[in-house]
Amino acid sequence: MNDTFLKACKGEEVEYTPVWFMRQAGRYLPEYQKIRENIDFLTLCKTPKLAAEVTIQPVDILGVDAAILFSDILIILEPMGMKVEFSEKEGPTINEPVRNKASIEKLAIPDIEDDLSFVLETIKIIKDKLKNKVPLIGFCGAPFTIATYIIEGKSSKNFYHTKRFMFQNSNLFNYLMEKLTVTTLSYLLAQIKVGVQAVQIFDTWAGILSPIDYTRYVLPYTKKLISDIKKENIPVIYYVKNCAGILKEIKKTGADVISIDWKIDILDAIKKIGKNAVIQGNLDPCALFMPKEGLEDRIKDILWKGSFAKGHIFNLGHGILPQTPVDNVIYLVEAVHYYSKKS
Ligand code: CP3
Repeated sequence: MNDTFLKACKGEEVEYTPVWFMRQAGRYLPEYQKIRENIDFLTLCKTPKLAAEVTIQPVDILGVDAAILFSDILIILEPMGMKVEFSEKEGPTINEPVRNKASIEKLAIPDIEDDLSFVLETIKIIKDKLKNKVPLIGFCGAPFTIATYIIEGKSSKNFYHTKRFMFQNSNLFNYLMEKLTVTTLSYLLAQIKVGVQAVQIFDTWAGILSPIDYTRYVLPYTKKLISDIKKENIPVIYYVKNCAGILKEIKKTGADVISIDWKIDILDAIKKIGKNAVIQGNLDPCALFMPKEGLEDRIKDILWKGSFAKGHIFNLGHGILPQTPVDNVIYLVEAVHYYSKKS
């Protein structure tokens, strides 16, 4: 098996820098679009055979060093009793946002093996089809990022409802975070049981918080979740967009790999997290619209800076955009492998 990615996660010596991308399966790929023509996103997630197929597409087309399960962080909301819709224009929306005690109490703790059996079935098919070519990454949304969707009802600019609820109803907010921590833990454990070899916890929106509030309202839960997962002996990657202001706090989560966005220089990130950090990132997804020479400069710069960390996994600072030219993504993978190769 190509285990370069898993080795890099542990900070072990590697022959070259491994690379994969957030949203590597998706609309920028014509092969994905072809499947999506006949099926909506949610149904695709719930159809194991097809979800497995789109998971594997980027491994074959791009030559990345890891596959990531095709699903969504909001998939756990339906078995918790909420209705989620994914609209092309608006992104995900939730029918009745949760902003009071009764609605938090009503949220069910899902039985993963039963309610989300389609995810576990998808993982089994992927593992079978991948034949250990590259490792499979499982994932979940972090409790805080899931909480923002539950409270806002959709994506948000200033997260007014989330912060207002968090500040005015701290006890209830903590109760919601507890429920989400239990749910995400059992969800990840179920994924690990059927064979994912690493997990990424997406805390996309935690970067909207001050260091004090991250420490007070989020850290205890992410720390607990991560320490429980680490008992399974597989690498835990933690991603926060706009992480620069809270990197010292993020370090305290205990994650094996810290996945950073492009708005911080890798060398500055290493200063904040320390030399023992394994870093994932951090090309601006829009750099994939540059001419090749420009892109090449950015790749070399990131590889050079990443070499000062204990380990480095090349990735984007956030997901690939649907408009991205596939050729540039293929070039990116080749260039990362070529320029980082030892000897
Ligand atoms: O990375 C991968 O290839 C694995 C699959 C994956 C998806 N979503 C598929 C998806 C993963 C890991 C996610 C995580 C996710 N989902 C996050 C955290 C990472 C991030 O992007 O910040 C968040 C916040 C979500 C919630 C979500 N799902 C949003 C905001 C959207 C709409 C935006 C968009 O790109 O359309 C989705 C839909 C979604 N999730 C799509 C895909 C491929 C697009 C669906 C489609 O129309 O085909």
